[in-house]
Amino acid sequence: MTVHFIGAGPGAPDLLTLRGRDIIASCPVCLYAGSLVPEAVLGHCPEGARIVNTAPMDLDAIIAECEAATKAGQDVARLHSGDLSVWSAMGEQIRRLKALDIPYSVTPGVPSFSAAAASLGAELTLPGVAQSVILTRTPGRATSMPDGETLANFGATGATLALHLSIGNLARSVEEMAPNYGEDCPVAVVYRASWPDERIIHSTLATVVEDTPPEVTRTALILVGRALAQADFGESRLYAADYDRRYRPQTADSPWSEWSHGDD
Ligand SMILES: C[S@@+](CC[C@H](N)C(=O)[O-])C[C@H]1O[C@@H](n2cnc3c(N)ncnc32)[C@H](O)[C@@H]1O
Repeated sequence: MTVHFIGAGPGAPDLLTLRGRDIIASCPVCLYAGSLVPEAVLGHCPEGARIVNTAPMDLDAIIAECEAATKAGQDVARLHSGDLSVWSAMGEQIRRLKALDIPYSVTPGVPSFSAAAASLGAELTLPGVAQSVILTRTPGRATSMPDGETLANFGATGATLALHLSIGNLARSVEEMAPNYGEDCPVAVVYRASWPDERIIHSTLATVVEDTPPEVTRTALILVGRALAQADFGESRLYAADYDRRYRPQTADSPWSEWSHGDD
């Protein structure tokens, strides 16, 4: 029997992978992180499934559920929001499962930063403006940040920042980012991307604190960077008519580069 970790996506029940949906539908037990995974996603569970919200549970209790299901011969769908590779607490659960010899699988999901970018209709890497996206957070009550992982250090790169778990630290974060990015740097706060009550706040570092309504206190992503409001950027060489490349050689003996600049 297997515990299937599944990235449940940003919230909309149709922003799951087909694999994730099918595994959920095949599991008689579903454990979901109820603080972020909306109940709509549970519509993929089979009828009669045991559905457990793990938000109020501790790690021991969650692992006990996995053990009980395994002993009963039942597969478990373990749902976390977005993708599992960031801030999912999957690592510590896998460590316990390994110690208990309980098999597991991992199915990726749509991360909230890409759902937020989709809601904005924005590409976060524009030629000549930003070619990197930094996924980060600020310290919270339960989590400190390793030395060096500061907004000042990340900001020195000028990359687009996707700031998670930080809407409660907005004012302080702005203070740390403004010296590198400039007060006029575009900011977008996306609250509950893909949920029915999604909200988008377009702003700048100078005004985002006052522009963000007081009720936006959680489940929000703060995107910061010049790429967010840039009309004046170069076109990538990828589609340039004279660009010599593997899939569009300009001459018969073209020494095309194997390094492409985009998807194709
Ligand atoms: C515990 S982390 C989980 C991140 C998740 N694993 C991911 O791939 O995006 C929770 C944070 O992700 C962001 N988040 C998750 N879902 C979101 C959504 N639908 N809209 C905006 N931000 C979201 C918020 O910053 C929230 O505080």
